[in-house]
Amino acid sequence: MSKYRIVLMPGDGIGEDVMEAARMVLETLDLDDEYIPADIGWRFWCTEGNPLPERTIDILKTCSCALFGAITSKPKNDANKELAPQLHNRGLTYRSPIVTLRQMFDLYTNLRPCKAYQGNPLNYRDDIDLVIFRENTEGLYSGVEFYPLPDEVREKLMQYSPSMGRFKDIPADEIAVSLRVITQNGARRIMRQAFEYARRFGYPTVTVVEKPNILRETSGLMIREARTVASDYSEIELWETNIDAQMMWLLKNPNNYGVLVTSNMFGDILSDLAAQLVGGLGFASSGNIGDNFAIFEPTHGSAPKYAGQHKVNPTAMLLTIKLMLDWLGERDKAQKLEGAIAGVIAEAKVRTYDMGGTNSTIDMAKAVAERL
Ligand code: NAI
Ligand code: MG
Repeated sequence: MSKYRIVLMPGDGIGEDVMEAARMVLETLDLDDEYIPADIGWRFWCTEGNPLPERTIDILKTCSCALFGAITSKPKNDANKELAPQLHNRGLTYRSPIVTLRQMFDLYTNLRPCKAYQGNPLNYRDDIDLVIFRENTEGLYSGVEFYPLPDEVREKLMQYSPSMGRFKDIPADEIAVSLRVITQNGARRIMRQAFEYARRFGYPTVTVVEKPNILRETSGLMIREARTVASDYSEIELWETNIDAQMMWLLKNPNNYGVLVTSNMFGDILSDLAAQLVGGLGFASSGNIGDNFAIFEPTHGSAPKYAGQHKVNPTAMLLTIKLMLDWLGERDKAQKLEGAIAGVIAEAKVRTYDMGGTNSTIDMAKAVAERL
């Protein structure tokens, strides 16, 4: 049996294009691995009423990790309209498969590196090397939401929080509530991941980005855990910043920062800004990482208008493979791959449309594979 069993889930649209690029590069890496394709995405919602079929979950459970392309998702009305006729009126509801997978496999770390590779014409500056750790399972995206607000929930909230009193007379269907839930364990383990990464890859600082002056309890807990964990890493400095100010500083002095760690929604926002500083969606890789399993994906979506055209930049996907190799413990191969990608960017011969070139997804993957 091979050392690694890696699930390949291309998904929809350009997910397939970039997965083709991924396969070309994986084949030249000479890993002791085996690839298992699996179904995910919009078309399985349309044809089977489930974008994440059970058979895919069964496959994932027997594998080391997964590489995922992208999926299409659409608003509720379209979702219902596009269901196959025989699936109508069965009470099926669409749920994002990637959110489901993050929760199902407890993939609590969302890792998003944003590094400026020399020669990328899309860089905001050339000296950026940020790594964002976003908590991936709780916070404002815990899914604890109410609308219309049930009376019992409102009464309980009023009983425990005087601030709720202001909302006591608003009709139930004129008020919506989303809860920001942070657990000590959730906060601690994301901090631990951030510091471990900083140590392993030699980053001198970890910046915890929150808003403790306003969100006293939830951000407060994040900061306390950051300080506790930081005490085990005397060589790394802990910086504490507020999310709003951090967005400005990231534009002003992105080179000052290294590892940044934050809760779910702040991380979602922060990482999109950071990605744009180093070339945008064509360059943004990510990992959804748990203690025993991980799913790696470029952060872009399925870009339907480019589907099947082999036009988009596969760099995000190739950098995603680099993250996967790091996680598998294949540091040498990860570094070689990153070197090959950086080389192709610096050489400036092969460029996809987003970088001002006319080369295809496959040209770019081939150039990287050749360097490997
Ligand atoms: P998108 O990321 O698919 O594309 C937005 C635009 O960014 C594209 O039209 C293209 O101009 C550019 N772009 C994206 N990837 C690129 C690449 N690799 N190289 C060069 N340019 C690239 O976002 P959009 O249009 O908002 O969503 C399209 C679909 O994807 C929707 O159904 C959405 O729900 C889904 N989506 C899925 C995600 C996932 O699978 N994790 C994440 C984001 C969106
Ligand atoms: Mg996002």
